[in-house]
Amino acid sequence: MRDVAIVGAGMTQFGELWTASLRSLFVEAALGALESARADHVDSIYVGNMSAGQFVGQEHLGPLMADALGMRGVPAVRVESACASGGHALRLGCMEVASGMADLVLVTGVEKMTDGVDVTNVLATASDQENEVYHGITFPGLYAMIARAHMQSRGTTEKDLHWVSVKNHRHGALNPKAQFRGEVSVEDVAASSMVAEPLRLLHCSPVSDGAAAVLLAPLARAKEFTDRPVRITGSGAATSAMALADRADPAFLDAVEKSAQRAYAMAGIQPKDIDVAEVHDCFAIAEICALEAMRLTEGCNPVQAARSGYTALGGKRPVNTSGGLKSKGHPVGASGVAQAIEIFEQLRGEAGERQVAGAHRGATQNMGGSGASSVVHIFERV
Ligand code: COA
Repeated sequence: MRDVAIVGAGMTQFGELWTASLRSLFVEAALGALESARADHVDSIYVGNMSAGQFVGQEHLGPLMADALGMRGVPAVRVESACASGGHALRLGCMEVASGMADLVLVTGVEKMTDGVDVTNVLATASDQENEVYHGITFPGLYAMIARAHMQSRGTTEKDLHWVSVKNHRHGALNPKAQFRGEVSVEDVAASSMVAEPLRLLHCSPVSDGAAAVLLAPLARAKEFTDRPVRITGSGAATSAMALADRADPAFLDAVEKSAQRAYAMAGIQPKDIDVAEVHDCFAIAEICALEAMRLTEGCNPVQAARSGYTALGGKRPVNTSGGLKSKGHPVGASGVAQAIEIFEQLRGEAGERQVAGAHRGATQNMGGSGASSVVHIFERV
């Protein structure tokens, strides 16, 4: 296998982007990645996307996006794994470069959610239709059940959840691309409207539009495109039962644990070697569960990691420095690629006010559904 590096990145603003279309979002992010790497061609394109067919009535995104980018003829395919579509697109792009099948691979993620009329029901199609959705469950409802189970088995409190949102909004306030750039207090979160008990509005990631793209190349050729490539040293993926009721412990995300262990093993590292991480905080409880399953908070209870400052900027291991899905926004198919861009910028020392001093190694964790799929990547400064 060849070593793989990210050599360029581009992303759109995340938010309610009424004047942008699915393809214009894709093109803006893709051109950003190509321009930053001074590249004028690619060998292959992956488009992470959860549900353009349901959100905006558009399927068959591969050729559509290649053509919109002026790259008609280039192999291009959509990758779908619910909210982990972007992370899985990155994994497939890595495999293609590592295998030697292609040199320059454009990995993108895009979603246009705010045009959708029935967003909550579209998102729910990523859970088990027969065993969950027919009974009326929604995504906030599923994560509310995970939160309740966590509270019962680990003693997690509502205040612990509030702190995750406070921290991520604080980080997002420093990110010009974030959907919500306002800080919130514990009192704001506690007073926000109830969505699915115990989850309130300010515990939830929003409905978002946006796109993100990275350009991959063999590490051996990376310096042709950038002075500061970032190597992808590990990639791990895993699945779990779709329905929460089919899991031994609904509060434990076993696919996250397995995907992280596989990525750590491939990279030859331990969780303690990670300086900065982006994890899938689609709801505040998800960040706590991801930290627990990835073993990212040694010496600190993951439940208290945000409250204690362990995972805040300036803390021992900053997590979701971009603002996370909570504050940066969550255009579902794009999120996994946007996570990789945050780590790319951190390891290149380009994260501005969000910079983690001396960041050398980073990780991303991208989740599908209520944890039925997960993909983890490890990145290293070259
Ligand atoms: N965080 C912070 N503010 C939010 C927000 C969020 N997640 N969602 C909406 N808002 C704000 C809006 O900007 C708006 O503010 P304004 O009145 O100042 O303009 C206000 O709250 C109401 O917005 P609205 O769009 O009417 O909210 P909603 O009640 O329709 O939707 C949620 C709120 C939480 C239900 C929706 O964001 C949601 O479904 N989130 C989860 C998405 C999801 O499941 N993703 C997949 C995860 S696996």
